[in-house]
Formats: sequence, structure tokens, C-alpha cells
Amino acid sequence: MSVIADRLKNVSISASAAMTQRARELAANGIKVVSLSSGEPDFPTPAHAIEAAHAAALAGDTKYPPMDGTPALKSAIIRKFKRDNNLDYDASQIVVSGGGKQVIFNAMLATCNPGDEVVIPTPSWVSYADIVKFAGGVPVAVPCHEQAGFKLRPEDLEAAITPRTKWLFLNFPNNPTGAACSRAEMAAIAEVMLRHPNVWIMTDDIYEHLVYDDFQFCTIAEVEPRLYDRVLTMNGVSKAYAMTGWRLGFCAGPKDLISAVSNVNGQNGGGIATLTQAAATAALDGPQDLLKERAAIYKERRDFVLDRLSEVEGLRCHRPEGAFYIYPNISGLIGKTSKGGRKIETDVDFVMALVDEHHVATVQGAAYGMSPFFRISYATSMEKLGEGCARIAQFCKDMR
Ligand SMILES: Cc1ncc(COP(=O)(O)O)c(C=O)c1O
Repeated sequence: MSVIADRLKNVSISASAAMTQRARELAANGIKVVSLSSGEPDFPTPAHAIEAAHAAALAGDTKYPPMDGTPALKSAIIRKFKRDNNLDYDASQIVVSGGGKQVIFNAMLATCNPGDEVVIPTPSWVSYADIVKFAGGVPVAVPCHEQAGFKLRPEDLEAAITPRTKWLFLNFPNNPTGAACSRAEMAAIAEVMLRHPNVWIMTDDIYEHLVYDDFQFCTIAEVEPRLYDRVLTMNGVSKAYAMTGWRLGFCAGPKDLISAVSNVNGQNGGGIATLTQAAATAALDGPQDLLKERAAIYKERRDFVLDRLSEVEGLRCHRPEGAFYIYPNISGLIGKTSKGGRKIETDVDFVMALVDEHHVATVQGAAYGMSPFFRISYATSMEKLGEGCARIAQFCKDMR
């Protein structure tokens, strides 16, 4: 009898882990790998957040925290939702977890019964489907086609909803495509959801502040207030404030749902590190100018990568509105052979040959549920982006 529980049978380890492993092996052999695979800002955590954690530690804020978040952090989150999203919540409607990932995990554990369906616009972040399966739910992918700008079309959403649907996930700006939703597009999604009063909505707004060219971010509970009572609005400090290692995410929603999520939170973690909470409070309440400054830098990088890659024969690059990813289509290269003699039948073949032959780490579209594409993260320096793009261009050019 296996020691491993049945619930793990359908859950894969992160699909990008194979690439990370390969890149590490190459680096261990002294090979300089250009990594364009990590979904992590290359900026530092703001100094005032670090100082707040330091001050909290010195002041003795080192005891067990409340399970749902410290009052100071919850107040900062309430202010954040009002300031950025024009959403009103009180402290009983907020819970703080160990990263955006744990928010979603806890929410699914708190709500999914076996067989409950969760509609996931796809391509989507690798963890959604696994978290849903872990919780006993059934992920239902709805394609967001390249031709539609990788957006969720109302008619596709409508067709995916069944009597078993419990949740719809939204993630715009999106990982991995960078697609974001205009107010009109969000209103069209909301209209579908108004017709399905039994379906809940989890919106993952973690890339909220990473939108470019004056694109206006919006979130569904604000766009359609009639949905407010069925929306779990998730956000965090990882991407906006470059605080991935601190592990802090939060969500807001109806009181009963939040109380259930908080229950799970208490059982699988017992609250979030006090020093992390102090740092996040300072980040949310502190000067916000850095968000715009960093977004301007990401925009420059996006434009730079798009310029370089749009000249490459065989690649087709959609221009994303946000996040820090580009998701080129490689259908023009499928069936070809790399200079190193590798037949490119899939996007997995493509990214593996690219890392082995030109030492650039990216992630295959298959990991996000839509092929043949690959994901480039531009959350890195211009120098590395220049080098990475030049190597990708050469790799594609040499294909026969
Ligand atoms: C769409 C999306 N949601 C959530 C997360 C996880 O955020 P956190 O680091 O706060 O757990 C990520 C991280 O890559 C992401 O891309």
C-alpha cells in the first residue's frame, strides 16, 4: 500500500520545475543560462517595508498572530481596496494568508465539494487546476484564444457553465499571456455571471498594478456591484511590491465565505508571520509612486522584447496589456528541426532544445494549457533580455 494519498494522484509538481531543474544542471556545469522563466520581479522590496519588519521584531511583535491577519494589516488592506478599487470592506470581510497561492488554496479547500466544477479561462497560471483538483473539484478550461487577444469571450464562458459549476476564476492581467480586461470586457463577463446566481467568482488581481499604455485596470466586484456578494477578490504584495519571499496574500469577500477561509487558514498555518505582516502593512500604506515607476520600466522591457521578437520568422507575438510576460505562438516552427538536430513537434520540444542549445530558459505553453506557445518573463534586466532575445532569434533562424 502506498504511503501517498490518492488525492495527490492527479496533482502534478509545477510544470515549470522541469525547466528550472534543467537550467540549474546547465549552470552547475559552468554554462551561463539566461533565465526568462521566472515570474518574479527583479526589483528589491521597498526599504520602508524592510524597516517596518525590523522595527516590529525589535518591538517584540514576535508572538502568535491572529489567524486572519493583524488589525493593522487588515486596516491597510481595507484602505488599499478603497483607494485602488473603490471597494468597501470591513475587517470581518478580509483574511490574510501565506501568499496569493495560499489564499486560493484555502478558499478552494473551504468551498469545493467533490465534483464541483471550477471554470478556468485558459491559458492560466499553472497552479489553478492543481489546487482545484487538490480540493476535490474539477477544473474546466475555457480557451481564451490568441485571435481574441487571449481574453475571455462571454459566449465561451456561458457555454462552460453547467449546474455543477461552483466557481469562475478570473486573472486579468493574466499569467501567462499578459492579457487584461477593459471595463467593457469585464462588464460583458459580469452580465453572463448575473444570469448564473449560483456561481461564485474568484478574481486573482495580483498583477493589478502592472498595466501599460494608460490601460485602466478594473476588478469585477467594482464593475458590477450586483456581484459583490459572490466575489472573492484576491490580491497580494508579491508582484506589486517585489515581496515574493515574504509570502503574503489577502482576499476580501462576503463575511461567511471569509470566515470559512479563515478557518482553513488557522488549521494549515496558524496565521502569517508577524514580521511579514508588518512589512506588508508598510508597503500598502507607504508611498505608492514606486508602482508607477516600476510599471514604466516593465513597459520599456515589454516593448523591447516585442520589437526584437516580432522580427523573428516563425514567431507570432501578441502585444500584452499587462503583467510581465509575453506568450509567442510558435506554430510556424512546429515540424522543423533545430541546428542541434532536435525535431520540434511540440512547445516542450521547443523550450527544451532552446535551453540545451542556446541556454535560454523559458516555459512551454503546455504548462499553461494552450499550445504551441512559450512564455517569456521580462521581469529581468535589459541586458539579459537583449542577450535572451538574440539567442532565441538565432535558435529560430537556424531551424530547418
Ligand atoms: C496569477 C498568479 N496568481 C498568484 C500567484 C502567486 O502569488 P504569491 O507569490 O503571492 O503566492 C502567481 C505567481 O506566480 C500568479 O502568477
